[in-house]
Amino acid sequence: MKKIGIFYGSTTGTTESVARIIAKKLGVSDENVHDASKLTKELVEGYEVLILGTSTWGDGEVQDDWYDALKILAGMNLTGKCVALFGCGDSESYSDTFCDGMGIIHDDLKATGCKFCGSIPVDGYTFDNSKAVIDGKFIGVAIDDVNEDGKTEERIDEWIKTLCINN
Ligand SMILES: Cc1cc2nc3c(=O)[nH]c(=O)nc-3n(C[C@H](O)[C@H](O)[C@H](O)COP(=O)(O)O)c2cc1C
Repeated sequence: MKKIGIFYGSTTGTTESVARIIAKKLGVSDENVHDASKLTKELVEGYEVLILGTSTWGDGEVQDDWYDALKILAGMNLTGKCVALFGCGDSESYSDTFCDGMGIIHDDLKATGCKFCGSIPVDGYTFDNSKAVIDGKFIGVAIDDVNEDGKTEERIDEWIKTLCINN
């Protein structure tokens, strides 16, 4: 198994709890699960796989703790690293910006040389628009714990099957 670091940005705790569920399922220990506000270049360099999670706030904005963290990541050469994304949002109240934050992270990292993995079909979701959809698929797992918490576990399990964490 490759060395995996999980970073989350979470205002009310939902994305953090999803990060911890993912960590448990992948066997990632607590010391490798980090608040995005603690992200440093040195920390990132120690991982082969980065799992990055954000909730979406405002009108389709990334969670606050990602602003500085994204500046750091966007300035790095992430060639050879695999990046998987997860996002928390509310597809009913924010149907036009559902999980946009995940799309913003993806856009900001595009030029770093990293390889993305873990895109999933939009089937089973109801929303109007999302920056996290590229070529008809979510670029990571979209979680709606506000309206569909019963689907969270299964969505994570399906997404995990698509990750490039073993080779
Ligand atoms: C003021 C406000 C703005 C929000 N904006 C969005 C949004 O644009 N898109 C979206 O998908 N969810 C939006 N949400 C929903 C949150 O992303 C959702 O509640 C999420 O689970 C919060 O996760 P966190 O506790 O980890 O920050 C918003 C929620 C609030 C209260």
